[in-house]
Amino acid sequence: MPTMLILHPYLLLLLVALTAFSSTPEAESTSGCPDSCGGIAIQYPFGIGAGCFRKGFELICDRSLDRPVLVGTTKPVPLNHLSIRTAEARVMLPVAWQCFNSSDLVYASSDGDVQFNREEVYRISNASNQLVVVGCNTLGYTQSQRSEGNDYDYGYYTGCMSYCNNSKSAMNGACAGVGCCRLDIPPGLTDNRMNFEAYTHKKRLGFSPCDYAFLVDRDNYTFHTADLKMETNTMMPVWLDWAIRDNMTCDDAKRRAESYACVSANSECRDSSNGFGYVCTCSMGYEGNPYIANGCTDINECESYQEYPCRGVCRNTLGSYECKCPSGSHSADPFNDPCNPNFPLAAKITIGAIGGFFIIAVAVFASLLAKEKRKMRDYFRKNGGPIIEEVNKIKLFKKKELEQTLKSSNRIGQGGFGEVYKGYLRDETQPVAVKKPKIDVKLAGQFVNEVIIQSRVLHKNIVKLIGCCLEVDVPILVYEYVPNGSLDRILHDSNRVPLNLDLRLQIAAQSAKGLAYMHSEITTPILHGDVKPANILLDEDFVPKISDFGTSRMITVDENYASTIIGNWGYMDPEYVLTGLYTSKSDVYSFGVVLLELFTRKKALDPDNNSILGNSLDTYSKKKRVIELVDPEIAAIGNTGVFHSLAEIIVQSLSTDIDQRPEMADVAERLQYLLK
Ligand SMILES: *[C@@H]1O[C@H](CO)[C@@H](O)[C@H](O)[C@H]1NC(C)=O
Ligand SMILES: *[C@@H]1O[C@H](CO)[C@@H](O)[C@H](O)[C@H]1NC(C)=O
Ligand SMILES: *[C@@H]1O[C@H](CO)[C@@H](O)[C@H](O)[C@H]1NC(C)=O
Ligand SMILES: *[C@@H]1O[C@H](CO)[C@@H](O)[C@H](O)[C@H]1NC(C)=O
Ligand SMILES: *[C@@H]1O[C@H](CO)[C@@H](O)[C@H](O)[C@H]1NC(C)=O
Repeated sequence: MPTMLILHPYLLLLLVALTAFSSTPEAESTSGCPDSCGGIAIQYPFGIGAGCFRKGFELICDRSLDRPVLVGTTKPVPLNHLSIRTAEARVMLPVAWQCFNSSDLVYASSDGDVQFNREEVYRISNASNQLVVVGCNTLGYTQSQRSEGNDYDYGYYTGCMSYCNNSKSAMNGACAGVGCCRLDIPPGLTDNRMNFEAYTHKKRLGFSPCDYAFLVDRDNYTFHTADLKMETNTMMPVWLDWAIRDNMTCDDAKRRAESYACVSANSECRDSSNGFGYVCTCSMGYEGNPYIANGCTDINECESYQEYPCRGVCRNTLGSYECKCPSGSHSADPFNDPCNPNFPLAAKITIGAIGGFFIIAVAVFASLLAKEKRKMRDYFRKNGGPIIEEVNKIKLFKKKELEQTLKSSNRIGQGGFGEVYKGYLRDETQPVAVKKPKIDVKLAGQFVNEVIIQSRVLHKNIVKLIGCCLEVDVPILVYEYVPNGSLDRILHDSNRVPLNLDLRLQIAAQSAKGLAYMHSEITTPILHGDVKPANILLDEDFVPKISDFGTSRMITVDENYASTIIGNWGYMDPEYVLTGLYTSKSDVYSFGVVLLELFTRKKALDPDNNSILGNSLDTYSKKKRVIELVDPEIAAIGNTGVFHSLAEIIVQSLSTDIDQRPEMADVAERLQYLLK
């Protein structure tokens, strides 16, 4: 350490009585104590007036300065900022200085010491202050914390040297050793006493007659060359760290309840970072004054978004707060990230679209269903449902009841007329044949009549109509099921069933009976319209049953009656083709062809036997021809008389002259006779 010129401190200009009161934690009742001075809030442990402060924290409100000032200082130390939360105070401290006269001697000086820290509650904040020396040939330094038993008297000596080569050397804004130097300070400094080395100022008196040294807010001082001649009573802002410095750490202090300063609920103790001692803080989520009872109050975080962010719905809790997204939205971090709807717009649109589509689909389906129902009702009415309903012999089937049967696996027949399915009705063991005609029914009224009539017909040689379904465009007819199939199949199938003469006569006679019954034994005669082996069905005992009575004609009825009636020209009455007039004799003609087929077992349209139907032959020739053609299977055993009679019936039935043809009843009778 170089030789020091230590200046005596100023005499105490203000004799401030040391506080006679020793404030205790119990005496912290601050009611009646001034809570501010000069706009500065004064809070315990600080206080103005007896009983208002903790020992060492007394302030006086200086009316002339309109500022609180520290107590016990040798010069007023105004306080212009006080924070309980950060345990900081900002005061104004005088600069230290020395000035030279023309003899190059220091004629006046000040070490700056104002004894602001008699109670040792303050430490000069190393974090917020710097030490600045202004001058053109000087070394300024501070010495602090007197300590015994070492080479030197203090624990700290720190400062810097400044020099100017000439009057132009110092620069504004530059405090780097030319006219001004500065340095960071260590923690623990307790006072502002400064010292200088007095180097010659002879050649600098003009622009730098004095040297200055001071502590200052590190953000609040910028060097100007004018400061080389600053006023000697200048004061600089300095930050002080204050603490409860009862020579105790938090651990010790807590054990001494009577002196422990952190008295508020929800308060905490923290060891001071600048000097021995501790400070109190409110616990997280609380704010206020931890040094007074119940001084720490809950922070309503929801009210200060800047400090306590929440992008969702904020809810304050004691010591904390909750932040949640409103229902229907979410965020990974609602405190910082905005809440997004659970269903983003795209999803909403999608769901809406799907939902909408679904609703539309349901609506469409419902309307289709309703339409279908309406259609079914319309068909039912159109097909004569209301009339047929009256007839209790006909069963009216619902479309649904037949759907099971109308499957391709149940189909037993198919042709120009439509399709036939074998099926079982609900609760019935007897099979039925369900006929689904292809062709539209135009004459619904006629259809209804004939269905009603046929339903009343009970004849063992006529396939029984059980009922019908009218809920469809073309009515579906349900008949009794006849197991042995059609005569056409029996006669012409590849594996020929043996048919003796008696059986053939029986089939012929009974078929004729059936036809005759319909022609003449019922009130309203019904013509078949399509007599052919395919329409003569055989039951298990080879009893013939004529099928499609009347209906085949009804169903095929249409504007082009003549041309569309029946596809089987081989069986069709040529007179009907010529005149367009269908009579019972037309059925007789067709039956004649059937008889011919039955006894010859040859197809009516075979090119071989076509000639027998030709008009050019006379009756006798035809008869002869028929006998020649008789199936060899029966020709051998049959007596010639029977064949002659048969040939006569056939030839008569096929006569081109309608009047020559016998009535159906006549045919039946004659065949029956032959059978006997
Ligand atoms: C300079 O100051 C010293 C000490 O105060 C004094 O002895 C001396 O006379 C002064 N010189 C002038 C020229 O004032
Ligand atoms: C002040 O002192 C404390 C304690 O030694 C230290 O942690 C901190 O870094 C110092 N601040 C500055 C700016 O030097
Ligand atoms: C120092 O001052 C002298 C006299 O004014 C001048 O001649 C010299 O150049 C200066 N040196 C520097 C480094 O500024
Ligand atoms: C320093 O502090 C004083 C008083 O608080 C203020 O008026 C001034 O602007 C500050 N200067 C700088 C450079 O921050
Ligand atoms: C502080 O405590 C230490 C040991 O705990 C003790 O030696 C010292 O004298 C105490 N100082 C004061 C001022 O109480």
